[in-house]
Amino acid sequence: MANVVKRIGLSLGADICWPICYEEIVRRLDLKVPSKKDLVSVEVERVRIAPADIREQKRYDVLLDRLTHWYMPRREWVKQHVVVNDTYVLNNPWSIQANEKHTTYAAMARLGVPVPTTWLIPQKEYEPKDDLNVTLRRYADLFDLGRIGARIGYPMFMKPYDGGAWVGVSKIDDERTLRQKYEESGKRLMHLQKAVSPFDLFVRCIGVGPQTRCIKYDASAPLHARYTTEKGFMTKEEERVLVDTTLTINTFFGWDFNSCEALRQDGVFLPIDFANACPDSQVTSLHEHFPWLVLAKVRWSLFVAATGRKMRKTLDWDPYFEIAKKDLPYDEKLKQYAAVARTRLDAERFQEFCDKHLGALPAVAHEFFGTERAKDAVRQKVAALFPAHEVDEFTEHFWAAIQRWRQEEGKPA
Ligand SMILES: Nc1ncnc2c1ncn2[C@@H]1O[C@H](COP(=O)(O)OP(=O)(O)O)[C@@H](O)[C@H]1O
Ligand SMILES: [Mg+2]
Repeated sequence: MANVVKRIGLSLGADICWPICYEEIVRRLDLKVPSKKDLVSVEVERVRIAPADIREQKRYDVLLDRLTHWYMPRREWVKQHVVVNDTYVLNNPWSIQANEKHTTYAAMARLGVPVPTTWLIPQKEYEPKDDLNVTLRRYADLFDLGRIGARIGYPMFMKPYDGGAWVGVSKIDDERTLRQKYEESGKRLMHLQKAVSPFDLFVRCIGVGPQTRCIKYDASAPLHARYTTEKGFMTKEEERVLVDTTLTINTFFGWDFNSCEALRQDGVFLPIDFANACPDSQVTSLHEHFPWLVLAKVRWSLFVAATGRKMRKTLDWDPYFEIAKKDLPYDEKLKQYAAVARTRLDAERFQEFCDKHLGALPAVAHEFFGTERAKDAVRQKVAALFPAHEVDEFTEHFWAAIQRWRQEEGKPA
């Protein structure tokens, strides 16, 4: 048997806590997977930022990328590795670039997903450009914002078409505020979206490959307490709908990790934000859920690396649209979308891989999340976000959450 080393690159920006845990767990796990004539092991390294030759020799089998959505040198470098080396990237950089929030709303509406009424409004102001004036003079229709507001109905949300991190999001209760917010929106291209109001439950469903976790979210809580630890807040059937929706979205857009935000109104979940292709992974927001996310990334990236899973470089939407055309109730269609999703995600083979090769992971994780190294990862993240006088207190706060995870969920069988 030949020893084959698969290289996993971590493409990082501000992330602190999860990569430390990820690297340490993978190292301790010391994976050896027999594959055909080879014995596969993995090596993890952090990718550097440097000038890049288009014929760069270094190869990565898998890239876990957390930078592409805003840092262009990395985006192009990552794309280079896909076109040249067939590298598998979580997430596909083209699909982040091409599928902004607006596209995702429109595409999921076509599938019948109950996205609230959403309009794209040409922006108030533009960067000067030679052809701009003539283009607008010739083709831009004057529109009456008040009439659009009345068609959508109040309250509504105005938010950037490519948004993230709640930047530029405002709730609008009447026409006067709508006009004022539009004036203030300047060069930002905005959506108007009917508010799901009132809603009685806000859930975020995180997906990593075929793995999902639904968490009740409290948007009114301080940042570190928004992901709640409540259990039993929805029925099994509701959970199935959210999981199926999330897997449908993620595979439709070719995202390996993402989170889908949905609000429940009159017993129906309306997804309002599901283009989060670099989902929050910090211990300071995820607390008790943090180990789950680290382990989900470990499992999925090891599966991809060890089995040589191929990344779907181009998206094939037709199978979903074929289902959308059928004369079936939405829920039946959703089940069929989700079946496509699970096939694309190799859900069964992934489960077999975990059972067969990652049997040691629960014990390794349980041990690791009790070490000083893990606590230091938490401290470093807390120190980066909190004022100096709160670092000790919040390190202990998040550490206690991880210890609760070890007790309740992370105990090896
Ligand atoms: N249609 C909506 N109905 C109710 N609340 C909304 C709606 N759209 C946005 N919000 C609220 O605003 C927050 C930010 O909007 P979101 O679309 O998630 O933007 P971002 O991409 O910046 O996270 C949401 O978490 C939610 O609390
Ligand atoms: Mg959001």
